[in-house]
Amino acid sequence: MSDAIDNPLDDPTADPFEIAAEAAADIARLTGVERHDIALTLGSGWGRAAELIGETTATIPATEVTGFSRPALEGHVGSLRSIRTPKGRNVLIIGARTHYYEGHGVRRVVHSVRTAAATGARTMVLTNGAGGIKPAWSPGQPVLISDHLNLTGASPLEGATFIDLTDLYSQRLRDLARSIDPSLDEGVYCQFRGPQYETPAEVRMARTIGGHIVGMSTALEAIAARQAGMEILGMSLITNMAAGIQTTPLSHQEVIEAGQAAEPVIASLLARVVGAL
Ligand code: HPA
Repeated sequence: MSDAIDNPLDDPTADPFEIAAEAAADIARLTGVERHDIALTLGSGWGRAAELIGETTATIPATEVTGFSRPALEGHVGSLRSIRTPKGRNVLIIGARTHYYEGHGVRRVVHSVRTAAATGARTMVLTNGAGGIKPAWSPGQPVLISDHLNLTGASPLEGATFIDLTDLYSQRLRDLARSIDPSLDEGVYCQFRGPQYETPAEVRMARTIGGHIVGMSTALEAIAARQAGMEILGMSLITNMAAGIQTTPLSHQEVIEAGQAAEPVIASLLARVVGAL
């Protein structure tokens, strides 16, 4: 059966929060962990952090959890992991991200975040690989997300749902991350729809309106996480300088390779940050 037919989120009459609650029940049953405290979405380059955070108590294919889509892309791992930290906290690792550019709608994009909230997680750590605009940055550098510009034209909120986004990327959690690594810079994340990388003109526009990081994921997820009442920490790995800032063409291969090269350093940083949460 095709994924388009058997995903309950594709039924417009279904309640996405009920489906997230079902997914959370699946996770509890399949991992044997009733509640999770912290959830992490690991984007390009961040995958190795899972091993350093604590002991993995269960790994489950995302396809066994209600509403999760099949991984769209090689290099994006389609699994969920439950990890117990040395402090005894349960961390849900989401290695299965659905991007808006896949065209399955925003409900599917934010399902993992809503599911994480339904498992009990109060803290959502969103990571990604992204293009850098600030000239002082270089590929391989992790940065904190301080705010975002949602340029997708989409929202995970349905109906007249007015949500405050003033401290969307928690100042408290950014301070905490900086207590681990004082050299961490921060910037405003611009989410474009993709999947094409930006034109140099689009990057200039992003810079002019206050953007420092360009990517194709986190903003929509952060809005859904805030709607669910979670505190959010956002981190980008600068995998490349944004189009026009770097003069060479961008390639997915370059993004993957920069992620792999930076992985040991950013994985240990993220593990230390999670340990401090
Ligand atoms: N733009 C958008 N998304 C990205 C980039 C970029 O330059 N690099 C990695 N993901």
